[in-house]
Amino acid sequence: MKTKTSKTTTRAVQCSAVLAVGGLLITACGSSGGSGSGQSATTSFEGRGPITYVAGKDTTGTVQPTIDRWNTLHPKEKVTFIQLPTDADAQRQQMIQNAETKSDAYTVLSLDVVWTSEFAAHQWIDKLPEQRFPLSRMLKPVVETAKYRGGLYAAPASSDGGMLYYRTDLLKKAGIGGPPTTWAQMKADCAKVKKLPEAKGMSCYAGQLQKYEGLTVNFSEAVNSAGGTVTDANGRPDVDTPAAKNGLDFLVGSVKDGTIPKEAITYQEEDGRQAFQSGKLVFLRNWPYAYALAAKSGIAGTYAVAPLPGLDAPGSSSLGGHNMAVSSYARNKATALDFITFMTSQDTTATFLKDASLAPPYASLYDDPRLIKQYPYLPVLKQSILHAVPRPRVVQYGDVTSAVQQEAYAALTGTKTSAQALKDLQQDLQKCTAQ
Ligand code: GLC
Repeated sequence: MKTKTSKTTTRAVQCSAVLAVGGLLITACGSSGGSGSGQSATTSFEGRGPITYVAGKDTTGTVQPTIDRWNTLHPKEKVTFIQLPTDADAQRQQMIQNAETKSDAYTVLSLDVVWTSEFAAHQWIDKLPEQRFPLSRMLKPVVETAKYRGGLYAAPASSDGGMLYYRTDLLKKAGIGGPPTTWAQMKADCAKVKKLPEAKGMSCYAGQLQKYEGLTVNFSEAVNSAGGTVTDANGRPDVDTPAAKNGLDFLVGSVKDGTIPKEAITYQEEDGRQAFQSGKLVFLRNWPYAYALAAKSGIAGTYAVAPLPGLDAPGSSSLGGHNMAVSSYARNKATALDFITFMTSQDTTATFLKDASLAPPYASLYDDPRLIKQYPYLPVLKQSILHAVPRPRVVQYGDVTSAVQQEAYAALTGTKTSAQALKDLQQDLQKCTAQ
């Protein structure tokens, strides 16, 4: 399922006017039917009865059992789980279609953290009553992803930070003391590991390089991990720089020299996870969810995670995650609010952590000794989330990500040089964020 909205086939992006809000530049050019005012009226959240919960495909197998628990306790307010494709862009497209037709088929939406501004500005989701959620106990950057113009439009459900998965057994056998902190070290480690007979046929590294949201994440991480930025502290594009080029060149050069195998240019999260689990990769960039699944696979006990490597020092992750919002066109909003409260509670998110290694929004869970015993990387992940770099918080996020994907992909596939791709991207992004 690869149909996508906002995918431009030329370099033209559709952004125009902008508003500067809270230091971030926010595009105000509504693309399709929304008022763009962002001033949604207070919702009364009335009505009880059956609702739906709409999210990307649950690759962890833990969501339906949690919904079943809710359904047993609330037989008159049952939740039906609607699973969308795993591809973030495809999820966004289906949710937007539902909103544009003002359909009541979707009640509670699991929104990627990067869609909050767009959905709130178009009034596709309701502003939530803040006091319903223990936001002060949650990690601050995570709460920020759920806000638009100071209002809370979604409840933080899970966070995400990119991590470097690596094969502890192979590194040890090759005489390597610990995970690499730089890209050069990672390449050198691979060269050593690949000399081992048990590493025959293995490739070095993969992330998510298919042309979809994952590429925006991996491109941004490469740029940030080389000391560059996609947008500066004021939200202005600043990607046509030597530092950003170093970042993009890491990805482009790695595809060229085989560090990243050719097929990895088609990988989303699940493809890379499967390649790593089946022993095809020494290193993998992925989100925390892959940790618990790998523990049930053939490589159980032979892998660990570390911070992402960078150019001269450890790199930085993009801030990922999902928040739960109420569709403006839904019925039974009192039930929806209760269900969101249940799904985003400390207890439920702790269960998602224990059973599926999903990164919780609650700060204290990262410091819990029992949880750290199960997931030793939790303190590192907490720091990685606290220092993660958010993707641009813009209403026209679809156009921004589309431009990034197009230019990064052109460089990866050799259609453009890195320098040209960054120059073109800078121009495209300026259209989305010019004053
Ligand atoms: C994960 C992240 C999300 C990101 C997506 C990209 O689901 O939580 O923020 O956009 O991956 O594929």
